[in-house]
Parts: sequence; C-alpha cells; structure tokens
Amino acid sequence: MAKIRNSILCLLSLLAGIFLFSNSIHAQTESKEASSTINTKNESFAQSHPDQYHSWRATSEQAQREDALAEDPRLVILWAGYPFSRDYNKPRGHAYALIDVRETLRTGAPKNAQDGPLPMACWSCKSPDVARLIQEQGEDNYFHGKWAKGGPEIVNVLGCADCHKTDSPEFAQGKPALTLTRPYAARAMETIGKPFEHASRFEQQSMVCGQCHVEYYFAGDNKSVKFPWDNGTKVEDMEVYYDNIGFSDWTNSLSKAPMLKAQHPEFETWSAGIHGKNNVTCIDCHMPKLQNEKGELYTSHKIGNPFDNFEQTCRNCHTQSKQALQAVVAERKQAIQEMKIKVEDQLVHAHFEAKAAWDAGATEKEMAPILADIRHAQWRWDLAIASHGIHMHAPDEGLRMLGGAMNKAADARTKLVRLLGAKGVTHEIAIPDISTKEKAQQAIGLDMQKINAEKQEFLKTIVPEWDDQARKNNLLSQ
Ligand code: HEC
Ligand code: HEC
Ligand code: HEC
Ligand code: HEC
Repeated sequence: MAKIRNSILCLLSLLAGIFLFSNSIHAQTESKEASSTINTKNESFAQSHPDQYHSWRATSEQAQREDALAEDPRLVILWAGYPFSRDYNKPRGHAYALIDVRETLRTGAPKNAQDGPLPMACWSCKSPDVARLIQEQGEDNYFHGKWAKGGPEIVNVLGCADCHKTDSPEFAQGKPALTLTRPYAARAMETIGKPFEHASRFEQQSMVCGQCHVEYYFAGDNKSVKFPWDNGTKVEDMEVYYDNIGFSDWTNSLSKAPMLKAQHPEFETWSAGIHGKNNVTCIDCHMPKLQNEKGELYTSHKIGNPFDNFEQTCRNCHTQSKQALQAVVAERKQAIQEMKIKVEDQLVHAHFEAKAAWDAGATEKEMAPILADIRHAQWRWDLAIASHGIHMHAPDEGLRMLGGAMNKAADARTKLVRLLGAKGVTHEIAIPDISTKEKAQQAIGLDMQKINAEKQEFLKTIVPEWDDQARKNNLLSQ
C-alpha cells in the first residue's frame, strides 16, 4: 500500500516538475521581451481616484522621525557589527519610504552602481517600481547586484501599484483589484496554505500588507527576499528554519555570536493575536471607510494610527469609549516596554561577558552553546519589539516572546559565569558608558563622523544623478 502511494506521489511530483519546468521556460522567454504594464506613477491616478489618491498623499503628514537608538542606546550594543547600530528610526508615513531608505546610514554611501554595501533586495518594500522591474526582468535579474544599481529605476514611492492591479479594467472602474505584486510574498502565502487567489476578500486585505510587514531574509548568492515560513510563522518555527539552514544575518562584533535580525513581522504577530484569529484585518483598523464631501464612502489610504479615526475603526465593533480602549493599549505598551528593557540589559551584559570570555582564551567549542543561547534570546526579543504595534496586535504573544528571551539570556549568562570562572576571571565584567547613542557607538568603535560625511556626499552627488536619469527615462511624473 505504502509502495503504491509512494509511486503515485513520485509520478505526481514528476508531473509537477514537468509542469514547473515548462512554466519556467515560458516565464523566461516572456521576461526577455516583457515591457511592463504596471503603471508606477501614483500621480496618474489623481484624477480617476481622487479620494484614494489624496488620502494616500496625506501619509506625508506623518513626518515625525523618531530616533530609536537615541531613545535606547542599548540597541547599539545588541546590533554591534551590523548597519542597524549606525542608524535606526521608527517607521513613519508611507510617503517617506523612498526618502528614508536613501537617507538612512544603513544603506551606506555607494559611489557607483556596483558599489555596496547592501544588495538590491533592500528596495523591495519601498516602491511600485520593484513590481515593475520584476515584471520586466524576472525576479533573479531584479535581485542581482548591489543596492545602488536600482537607484535610477526605483523612484516612485510606495503607492497604488504596490497593492493594486493598476492595469486592470476593474481598478479603472474604482474596484480594489488587490494583488500581490511581489512573487516571493505570493509563494510564502502558499507555503502557509493561503494562496492569494483562493483567499477571501478579508484575507486578501491583510495579505497585501503582508508583502512588506513581515519577517524575511536575503537568501542565496543572489540575496533574494524569502520569508522563513516553511515550518510556520511562530517565533520558534522561524528559529528552527534559520537554525536548520545555518543562516545568520551577521556576527555580533563583541560576542561573535551568529545573529538573526528580525525585520517588521506585523503580519505574523497580528496572526497570533486575538484580532488576527478573528480575521479582523489590518484594513479594519488602519484603512477605515470614510465619507467624502458628496457623502460617498471610500477607503482611507492615510494609513496611520487607527485611534485617529476611532468612530470608523474600533468603534465599528466595540462599545467601549476611545479613552477606555486607549488606556488598555497604553497599559499593554508599558508592560511590553518594561520587559523589553529588562531583556536588553541582560543581553548587553551577555555580549560583553562573551567578549571577556574570548579575551580570556575560551575556545570555539566552549563558546558554541553560549553563543547559541545569545542568538536565540536576541531573536525572540527582536521579533517581539521589531513588530511595531505588538502591544496592540498581540500583547500576550509579545510578552511570551520576551519571556522566552529572558530565559535564554539568563541561560547564556549562567554558562558565562562558569566559563569565565574556569578561565580565572572572577570579577564582574564591566560595561562601558553607553548612556547615550554617541557613547554606545564609540564603545563599539564606529567612526560616525566619517560615516555621516560619506552619506552627505552620496546624497549631494549620486542621488540627484539617479533622479535625472529617471526623468530622462520617463519613469517619473514630473
Ligand atoms: C498598501 C496597499 C495599498 C496602496 C499603496 C494603495 N491601496 Fe488602494 N486599496 C487598498 C485596500 C486594502 C483597499 C480596500 C480593499 C477592500 O475594501 O476590499 C483599497 C481600495 C482602493 C480602491 C477601491 C475603492 C475604495 O475606496 O475602497 C481604489 C479605487 C483604490 N484603492 C485606489 C488606490 C490608489 C489610486 C492608490 C495610489 C494613490 C492606492 N489605492 C494605493 C490598498 C492599497
Ligand atoms: C511595499 C511595501 C509596503 C506595503 C505593501 C505596506 N507597507 Fe506599511 N510601511 C512600509 C514601509 C517601508 C514603512 C516605513 C516608512 C518609513 O518610515 O519611511 C511602512 C510604515 C507603515 C506604518 C507606520 C505609519 C506611521 O505613520 O507611523 C503603518 C501603520 C503601516 N505601514 C501599515 C501598513 C498597512 C496596514 C498596510 C496594508 C494596507 C501596509 N502598511 C502596506 C512598507 C509597506
Ligand atoms: C484591531 C486593530 C488593528 C489591526 C487588526 C491591526 N492593527 Fe496595526 N495598529 C493598531 C493600533 C491601534 C496601532 C497603534 C498602537 C498605539 O497607539 O500605540 C497599530 C500600530 C501599527 C504599526 C506601528 C506604527 C508605528 O508608527 O509604530 C504598524 C506598522 C501596524 N500597526 C501595521 C499593521 C499591519 C500590517 C496589520 C495587519 C497585518 C495591522 N497593523 C493590524 C491597530 C490594529
Ligand atoms: C472588525 C471588528 C473589530 C475592530 C475594528 C476592532 N476590534 Fe477589537 N476585537 C474584535 C473581536 C472579534 C475581538 C475578540 C472578542 C472576543 O473573542 O472576546 C476583539 C477584542 C479586543 C480586545 C480584547 C481582547 C484582548 O486583546 O484582550 C481589545 C482590548 C480590543 N479588541 C481593542 C480594539 C481596539 C483598540 C480597536 C481599534 C484600534 C479594535 N479592537 C478594533 C473585533 C474588532
């Protein structure tokens, strides 16, 4: 019986293989000659869809930049050796996605299209031009190369063609025609058993956000985006996935631990929370239906804080007052914040103690289990806090992750005390002054003056060239 089943399975996979193979040939020939039908110029929809367009534009009112490293310099230590230790701001309005990826110190100061440090993948959640390039060139060609290669091409900010089939008759008629414009996101949704085409309208609403508001990593030599969801979307599932493939984003320069950097896993944490479980979608809270001057309903595209439209968001389902619900959310934020800081303090000590252990002559074999604990602790912490809004989306899951992080960090430190003792180090390992962002950056040896000067030069010389070239190639509206 098992044998028959096996041979049927075998046959099926063979057939699937042939099907995929012929499909990929088809895709290749297609991609060679394809000129994109995706309209990336957001301004061209101002006339046809004025309510959506103007509310989308209004995300530029959410302009405030919040420097997360200045607010909490411990982050610099936890991310030592990784670009996040240079610069990390909290998210702001969608209208800033492109400016911010150009201006952040994380993308460095490339001097030409081949210059690093970062890969093309870093554009992936910033612009509808990404969807256009993937359609024109195929995914592999889009991902190939350094970030600066995309500068003259990726010039329209996050907009209509990121979430809509802008070339469809339905969209022209004012229907949503939602779509996943990122093939890697479509594949990931299939992996978790939710192919987009078969999903309900409500599921699709959250999935379009889940193209970007997710955990992902850069896979293979081509550094293409992949979501680590093969085993599931919980913190432990993704950790097992990364451990099995031996992946790390970077090595912490103090502890030498092989680290994982969480991105912005709102889709995963929302799924784990009470609203996600009840299929209350991102749109129910972040894109309410409002009335225009003529009294017609439209979907607000000013994606921001749902409390700004309380009557059209929370109030649709809850009877409590705005004040009461805000108090609940604030209390949870406080609880998460307190736990976050406690875990960070443990991790800061663990990184410096691991450094001291190396300095005292610890071997790789002795350090391996300790570094694994640090990796797993910081992964849990990061996944909890990198999902902005976790206190609203899934406060229990957030606290659970942070609790797990606390335990793993404690494990690492217990082992470190023993190891240090065995190496004759019995005094407490001192932490340098990391009371400000600047001092913390100094403590890990960053030359911020140089990094900033190079960035300014890049913004003054290279970026204007990108825009000129894009204008010449008719990629921009103005
Ligand atoms: C981040 C994703 C996203 C972006 C960017 C986006 N939309 Fe939408 N749009 C949505 C969602 C979600 C809906 C609601 C779908 C539903 O009700 O099922 C929607 C609905 C619409 C609709 C249907 C009518 C309505 O108001 O519900 C139109 C038309 C529309 N958007 C136009 C635009 C235009 C024009 C732009 C660019 C200026 C844009 N959208 C940018 C996600 C997006
Ligand atoms: C193409 C990628 C992409 C898609 C799709 C997308 N986002 Fe975003 N989102 C971003 C980026 C990038 C930022 C940060 C922008 C910055 O800080 O420069 C952001 C920021 C935000 C913010 C913070 C806004 C603020 O003012 O603080 C919220 C809330 C948000 N997104 C919700 C959503 C929701 C809900 C959806 C689905 C309707 C969605 N996003 C779809 C990429 C995306
Ligand atoms: C039940 C309502 C609700 C749902 C559903 C929801 N959110 Fe939120 N989200 C909020 C609220 C409220 C906040 C702000 C919390 C606060 O005031 O501190 C928030 C915050 C955020 C932030 C952080 C904004 C910032 O500036 O820090 C992002 C990003 C975000 N949500 C994205 C999403 C995405 C993506 C989804 C779907 C996968 C989603 N949200 C689902 C209510 C919701
Ligand atoms: C589309 C409907 C819907 C919207 C919109 C909505 N909720 Fe909910 N909310 C629910 C449902 C369903 C539950 C689960 C109720 C249950 O199982 O008892 C829930 C539960 C809650 C709970 C109690 C569960 C918990 O987390 O402890 C809070 C608090 C809450 N929502 C706050 C908010 C806030 C704040 C907003 C607006 C930002 C909001 N909700 C928007 C449907 C909604």
